[in-house]
Amino acid sequence: MSVFVKIKDKQLGPYSYQELKQLVGQGAFSKEDLIFHEERQEWVKAAQIEEIRQLFPDQHYSATGRTVFAVGGGKGGVGKTVLTASIGIGLATLGYKVVIVDADLGGANLHTCMGILEPEYTFYDFYSLQKDNLVDILLDTPIENLKLISGACGTLGLANPRYSQKLKFINQLRRINADFILLDLGAGSSFNVIDFFLAADQGIAVTSPEPMAIQETFNFIKISLMRRLLREFKDNPQVISKLEQNAFSESGRMAATLESVIEQIRIIDTKAAESMQHTIDRFKPSLILNMVHSQEEIKEGMALRTAVEDLLSLKMDYMGYVDYDDSVRKAVKELRPFVIDNPKSKASRSLAKLITIGLLGKTGWSGFKEKRRVLKHITQDAKTYPANSLKESDTICSVQCFYWGDCEYQNGGYPCPVRHLDPIFRR
Ligand SMILES: Nc1ncnc2c1ncn2[C@@H]1O[C@H](COP(=O)(O)OP(=O)(O)OP(=O)(O)O)[C@@H](O)[C@H]1O
Ligand SMILES: [Mg+2]
Repeated sequence: MSVFVKIKDKQLGPYSYQELKQLVGQGAFSKEDLIFHEERQEWVKAAQIEEIRQLFPDQHYSATGRTVFAVGGGKGGVGKTVLTASIGIGLATLGYKVVIVDADLGGANLHTCMGILEPEYTFYDFYSLQKDNLVDILLDTPIENLKLISGACGTLGLANPRYSQKLKFINQLRRINADFILLDLGAGSSFNVIDFFLAADQGIAVTSPEPMAIQETFNFIKISLMRRLLREFKDNPQVISKLEQNAFSESGRMAATLESVIEQIRIIDTKAAESMQHTIDRFKPSLILNMVHSQEEIKEGMALRTAVEDLLSLKMDYMGYVDYDDSVRKAVKELRPFVIDNPKSKASRSLAKLITIGLLGKTGWSGFKEKRRVLKHITQDAKTYPANSLKESDTICSVQCFYWGDCEYQNGGYPCPVRHLDPIFRR
């Protein structure tokens, strides 16, 4: 293999794989630099070519190790849960071993999204030390190669585990024998959510393209970065005070870009400024736009990437988009993952593209073939996926509920205010 590259607008090469590896080692060639793609006859970013991406030490999307993805983003209801389930299914149908994990401590519903109404074990069994090993609470799903760790729904107190419990959880996750582990995070920017986002190998921020959602997702990324930097520099009061004064004030407004804050820090502490730059360079959350109605909306969604780059000096990797599609809503009502409920829908097709191109990095002909393979396999699995039958009427809170006696919203005789308990109660 030999390739031409473009570094700072200068064309260089051809380089062999080994020569390119040396350039990467010297820091002369980055994932953002361009490579001439023979098949497509165009310049593309190095990160978009699978073989080339292997050269970079911090690349995460290969299936060689346990890759922990955390799907977050701040705004509620943007599709984190439905995407986690369907991405998990897509990867599993390609033969990868996948575990999807409900890390939404306040409103666990990933299991219902998969059509599993009464999970045999939940995170609560691990949390309450009834099960010491995460492997013991892994649940089978109707999809081969796909396991689920269910969240602990309706259980008081779980919404606030100690930091040490979260660490134990993440460390054990890494020991599970899987190619991909996907964490479905809750909404908001509380420490519980942020800590999981930061502990994962790769954070994925999901947002819809509306301005409000974009604003919240920006804040989510900003708060995540702040948490990381404040932890790293907790013993350096000068740095902390500069960060708090300028970039991360309590009002939430940024008085200065992070780049200019680093310059201010450089004047008082060169080493700290360099180390901060290094941390920022390594923090690369990915972006998924969901509920997209048009190409125009994709451009609007990209404003988030620009803001993150300009104000926080962070590079965001755009993983792809999923179309807005009524079939997703229908699938949720029927407690079926949307790719299974309708593998031919617009949303399923855009998701297949996101998985193969954005996540696995397949491009050109191989990307096209892989996308078709995902959809074909999902269509096969859909034929045997169990159906759920639900009553149409409102769910009334009563003693017959699975969570009676263990639900903070329990008030008897009123419609159930906890949507994830709904399907369990309806049975
Ligand atoms: N691409 C889509 N097209 C249409 N509707 C969608 C799409 N994605 C998600 N939805 C709808 O949005 C609703 C919320 O999705 P989901 O529960 O996955 O969001 P969430 O981000 O996990 O929410 P929360 O923050 O409460 O956990 C779903 O009921 C689904 O019907
Ligand atoms: Mg959710």
